[in-house]
Amino acid sequence: MSANSPARPVLPPDIRARKGTQPLVVLTTYTTPMARLVDGHCDIALVGDSVGMVLHGMPSTLGVTLDMMILHGRAVMRGLTRAMALIDLPFGSYEEGPQQAYRNAARLMAETGAPAVKLEGGAHMAETIAFLTARGVPVMAHIGLTPQSVNTLGGYKVVGREGEADRVMADALAVQAAGAFAVVLEKVPVGLTARITKTLEIPTIGIGAGVECDGQVLVVDDMLGMFTDFRPKFVKRYADLGKLAEQAIATYAADVRARAFPAAEHGFADTVPKAVQ
Ligand code: KIV
Repeated sequence: MSANSPARPVLPPDIRARKGTQPLVVLTTYTTPMARLVDGHCDIALVGDSVGMVLHGMPSTLGVTLDMMILHGRAVMRGLTRAMALIDLPFGSYEEGPQQAYRNAARLMAETGAPAVKLEGGAHMAETIAFLTARGVPVMAHIGLTPQSVNTLGGYKVVGREGEADRVMADALAVQAAGAFAVVLEKVPVGLTARITKTLEIPTIGIGAGVECDGQVLVVDDMLGMFTDFRPKFVKRYADLGKLAEQAIATYAADVRARAFPAAEHGFADTVPKAVQ
């Protein structure tokens, strides 16, 4: 954790107060063991709906359900002592209107213990964000590329170039005015990111949005190199765990076939040796 972290679990007002200070560190986290690893180093463990693609092999995030988010949210909460858990509202669980969003956000928070939710959308979600924040649900907004809208956007594209820049800026201002405590900027061009970050009073957290944000988020499996066939431009690989894991699996398979595993030390004797007198 950073020098600016409180000696208790991080809460949304702590994140809000970090605007313009030390960069916020965020990683997606979907399981208890990963939450334990992330806890001492990150400000936020994001239980992102990317879990559907990363852990469940789905082709997009659209098939992720509220029950999946609750299951993974509870697992992550068991591994955290300091970092703040933040859980995505999945596709179809909030877009109908403020009441639906409140019902499902309250369920996420009550059944996991997480103190905040994230939802995708800018100006068109402002009314919903205001409704939630007025009723005890802290919201992080997510603008630019919003993966739940991949079919209307026509792919996982950069959002905010040229003619789109004013709209993305307007989205940022709208979610701030509605009460969001921070906003994710995904695949927003670097110049526009810098302008939004300078203009807003709430922290911006970037993914594929350049260094000028108030914080950064990555999908943990991407930065650990778990996938050998997926290398987006905006991800830096900090390890090559996928390759290491495959080598270990291949060695285990060869050992089993050669009867080199288990060795004597991995077995249990038929009789318990008498204690040495
Ligand atoms: O679901 C997710 O992983 C996210 C991040 C990409 C910000 O929303």
